[in-house]
Amino acid sequence: MSPEAPFYDGRGRTVLVAGGTSGINRGIACAFARAGARVFVLSRSADKVADTVAELESLGSEAAGATADVRRVEEVDAAFAACAERFGAIDVLVSGAAGNFPAWAKNISSNGFRAVLEIDVLGTHHVMLAGYRHLSRPGVILNISAAASFRPMIGQAHVCAAKAGVDQITRTLALEWGPEGIRVNSVLPGPIEDTEGFRRLAPTPQIKARRLSRVPLRRAATSAEVGDLCLFLASDRASYITGAVVPVDGGASLSVPAELLQDALG
Ligand code: COA
Ligand code: NAP
Repeated sequence: MSPEAPFYDGRGRTVLVAGGTSGINRGIACAFARAGARVFVLSRSADKVADTVAELESLGSEAAGATADVRRVEEVDAAFAACAERFGAIDVLVSGAAGNFPAWAKNISSNGFRAVLEIDVLGTHHVMLAGYRHLSRPGVILNISAAASFRPMIGQAHVCAAKAGVDQITRTLALEWGPEGIRVNSVLPGPIEDTEGFRRLAPTPQIKARRLSRVPLRRAATSAEVGDLCLFLASDRASYITGAVVPVDGGASLSVPAELLQDALG
């Protein structure tokens, strides 16, 4: 195994990352590629899929991808079928597509609330169902969560509702699918440098500095650090871990103030 992949030997394994074409999820896809796994990514943008596949291949991975909007079950099913045709059964499924914009609840339209709920919650359901059909036994599922799943945060009513839903899907499917040898866990990133999510939640240098000053480890993390946790949870070293929500957040979820976005929202 390479020094970058101390927990997981991906050789001969297939990993599918839903929403894996930018930010944290792309970092996770790269971590599995570096560990030797075949990696399949899906997201809405054909350009982002092609660009990500090229990066994964440059890391030595046999990689492929497809466009799909996780809100549309037929598109998700078609992408999983394409992955199965190319690589066979999936060993590890990462579900990370999400939507977020900061807004006072009173300013979130029905459509805006629906968009986030449909991407995060319905999208997770679609990805889980397709995963159930295509996962090997034993198999591993990692849903990407956020502290909003258990901590209220001003400007994030829709996201709090959505991520709470994602984590309850994790826990419920751990119960339903554990007997079949499928482990289901959530990974809960904190602030991650150079990501769209962090830019949206820390839209000014002042808010970013204030946010990081309240993180116990006093910094943002890298996507690679999230990737390391995913490699561990996918490995046999984590063989008795299921139904867990595991933070990789420098302690941020314990301490970052709920009213952080107040100034930005006016
Ligand atoms: N404040 C309030 N409402 C907003 C908003 C904002 N900042 N941004 C979008 N919305 C509303 C739109 O006005 C629209 O509602 P309306 O039809 O009543 O006007 C609704 O959200 C849907 O917007 P639309 O752009 O049509 O949706 P989409 O399906 O193309 O995109 C989003 C979904 C809005 C979540 C978009 O931000 C997205 O694609 N996000 C993915 C990337 C991301 O969020 N990354 C961070 C992950 S943590
Ligand atoms: P990002 O860069 O915006 O990544 C989102 C990914 O999901 C992209 O690949 C995007 O590609 C895809 N996607 C979005 N909507 C989709 C849809 N409807 N169908 C299919 N794919 C879709 O975001 P990020 O900041 O890295 O966040 C990634 C995950 O980490 C999210 O689950 C987020 O909630 C979580 N998180 C992030 C942070 C952070 O600091 N960034 C903190 C905590 C949790 P397309 O545009 O091509 O569809």
